[in-house]
Amino acid sequence: MSRHLGGEDRQVQALRLGLELGMCFIDTAEMYASGHSEEVVAVAVEKDRDSVFIATKVSPQNLSYEHVLRSCESSLKRLKMNYVDLYQVHWPNPSIPIGGTMKAMEKLVGEGKVREIGVSNFSARQTREAQEALSRKAIASNQVEYSLTERSIEEELLPYCVKEHVTLIAYSPIARGQISGGGRECRWRILDSIAKKYEKTRTQVALNWLICREQVVAIPKAANLDHVKENAGAAGWRLKNEDQVALNKAFT
Ligand SMILES: NC(=O)c1ccc[n+]([C@@H]2O[C@H](COP(=O)([O-])OP(=O)(O)OC[C@H]3O[C@@H](n4cnc5c(N)ncnc54)[C@H](OP(=O)(O)O)[C@@H]3O)[C@@H](O)[C@H]2O)c1
Repeated sequence: MSRHLGGEDRQVQALRLGLELGMCFIDTAEMYASGHSEEVVAVAVEKDRDSVFIATKVSPQNLSYEHVLRSCESSLKRLKMNYVDLYQVHWPNPSIPIGGTMKAMEKLVGEGKVREIGVSNFSARQTREAQEALSRKAIASNQVEYSLTERSIEEELLPYCVKEHVTLIAYSPIARGQISGGGRECRWRILDSIAKKYEKTRTQVALNWLICREQVVAIPKAANLDHVKENAGAAGWRLKNEDQVALNKAFT
């Protein structure tokens, strides 16, 4: 590991542990720590790049055709990679036409610098408009907040994504850590009883509930190594349908 990244040892270690435990999707953005997050990812995957799915994002102020191309070059440089698996528009920006953004995205795909095109924090209508602005590729994903305690996307966006085969990437999937510390109200007791039945933790059940949903993947963030291990244990098993339904009802 490069000496100048000394302070990031813990983050690199957490990412590498996640990869060892079979988690193979890393999400970052040019906006995170002003690009430094991408440099940390570069160190974590330097020996193993091709077995990891790397997603990064272009910031909303950089959505003009020229800026998208420039931002992508800068991200690739910081990531020390010649391609990213998924390049996402971080937030919609109504003052920059989506046509130029998507034209730049397709150019990057044509040049082999981007494998798939995604959006983030887009409504169903905005996702459709982004799709209509593409001529050769489909929008692969939309990254939005989704967890047991934040389910507003279920009304319109999730059905749209399922119908159009757009992967929904759930961010803040454990409500920024709050799932493990939830209260004693009825819904938390239901979560606890389901966790007990499967010999899992609240967080593992909450993540499994998400990835049981059609077309949904989850990207929990953890710097603490025990959290990384716990979160990795959310995969490799499946909540029974009746328990998914019980959680749907409890956390409405
Ligand atoms: N597209 C967007 O606009 C957007 C917005 C927000 C986030 N994101 C993406 O989504 C990722 C995750 O979202 P997030 O960080 O907001 O929320 P999150 O993953 O729901 O929660 C992260 C927090 O939960 C803690 N945590 C992790 N595992 C835990 C466990 N097993 N038990 C208890 N606490 C646990 C973490 O602590 P430690 O770090 O100490 O382990 C951290 O404080 C981000 O890294 C980012 O890539 C995207």
